[in-house]
Parts: sequence; C-alpha cells; structure tokens
Amino acid sequence: MKEELHKAVDAFINVRFAPEDQALLRARQSMRDAQLPEIAVSSTQGKLLQMLARLTGVRRILEIGTLGGYSAIWLAGALPQDGKLLSLEIDPEYANVARQNIANAGLSDRVTVRTGAALTILRELIDAGEDPFDFIFIDADKPLYLQYVQFCLSLAHPGTLIVADNVVREGKILETDAPDEKVEGVQRLLDYLATTEGVTTTVLQTVGTKGHDGMALILVN
Ligand code: SAH
Ligand code: DHB
Ligand code: MG
Repeated sequence: MKEELHKAVDAFINVRFAPEDQALLRARQSMRDAQLPEIAVSSTQGKLLQMLARLTGVRRILEIGTLGGYSAIWLAGALPQDGKLLSLEIDPEYANVARQNIANAGLSDRVTVRTGAALTILRELIDAGEDPFDFIFIDADKPLYLQYVQFCLSLAHPGTLIVADNVVREGKILETDAPDEKVEGVQRLLDYLATTEGVTTTVLQTVGTKGHDGMALILVN
C-alpha cells in the first residue's frame, strides 16, 4: 500500500528532523485528553512551517485556526524574543486548551489567542490599522478560504508569505461537481490565485500521516 509507505517515510523524517519537544508532546496529549479533533498539522509539517517562517525573517505572525495551539508552538519557534504571533480561534474551549499549551511552552509573552469568528476579527484588525504580518498561516474553515486570503492581503506587505493548509484534499479539488463545501471553498481560492495579479503562488502536495493533501504557498509581491 502506497499510503503505508508514505506514513513510514513520514515517520523516518520525523524521527530525524522533526522530533517533538516536551511542549509539543504535552500539547498533543492535552488535545487528545480534551478530545479535540485530530486535525493539527503533523510534526514534519510543523517543522516546515517554522522553517518557512524563519526564511521570511518573521517578527509578526498571524494564524487563522488555532485548535489546541500545536501549529502555533511550531511557528512561534521562528520568532525572535520580541516577536509576536496572533492566532484566531472561534471555539472558546479550544482556545483555552491552546492558551494552556502555549503557557506550558513558555510562549505566553509572544503568542496571543483571540476568540471569535476570524472574518470579524480580520475586519477589526484592518479597520484598526494593524501593522502588517510577515507570515500568515490559514488553517480554519475551508469555505471561507478565499475571503481569508483577500482580507490577509490587506494585512500583508511585499514579501509576506501566506500559507493555506489542506488545499488538495486527496485530489478532490480536481472534481468538477465538487463533493462538498470544503472542496468548493478551496477551488474558489485556487481559481482566484491562478488569475490574480500581485501574488506568486504554488501548491506543495503533501503525503504522510495526514494522508494526501497540500499547502498553497502565496508570496505577496
Ligand atoms: N492550526 C491548527 C489546526 C486548526 S484546525 C494546528 O495545526 O494545530 C481548524 C480550527 O479552525 C479549529 O480549531 C476550528 O474551531 C477553527 N475555526 C473554524 N472556523 C473558524 C472561524 N470562522 N473563525 C476562527 N476559527 C475557526
Ligand atoms: C480538517 C481541517 C484541517 O485543518 C486539517 O488539517 C485536516 C482536516 C477538516 O476540517 O476536516
Ligand atoms: Mg489543516
């Protein structure tokens, strides 16, 4: 089975290059204990996000979709001492789990979890003249992905990297009569990115413990 091979290779990479430290292990356990859905990024994906953030020389990171703070902990690893990560989460219980995990990782001074509907918060940030972010990770509800990217472009500067998770969905994005609203949401985003000026985009397919999926890498020109 190809899938078993993908998982075995992911485990091989994980052991050598993306082992979880105590904070990440505890975060994963706390998410299981609180019965959060098992949809956090994998450790190899977390390491990738951290490296991409480092490459953009981040001081300010925005995340849309916190869950239990697992990807936020990886991303915060790219921040300098005075850097900031703002993560948006609609579910107050998930946000509390995340805040615990972030405190346990010693990151409470750098990471803020804000509860509410992301679109509402993004509009507030834009209206308040929030400084632009250097790196943005979009990982919340897929039907709103296009709106998230469009709002995020108002919170970015030339050189900002926007990463959108789960944009391949086991190849379902190729289906013309989209099987569900998540696929439709991702298709709308990819159609927009393919035709819009002002960004440079590619999609990285991913396989491994999270199955066949992918991340859109969107560089603001
Ligand atoms: N980035 C996390 C996983 C996020 S899962 C990680 O890899 O560790 C997606 C999260 O988005 C869920 O916690 C869900 O509650 C949240 N979410 C869904 N709709 C949202 C919305 N409209 N606004 C903000 N968060 C939302
Ligand atoms: C789902 C969401 C995610 O962010 C993910 O990485 C995997 C699955 C979901 O909503 O099913
Ligand atoms: Mg995801």
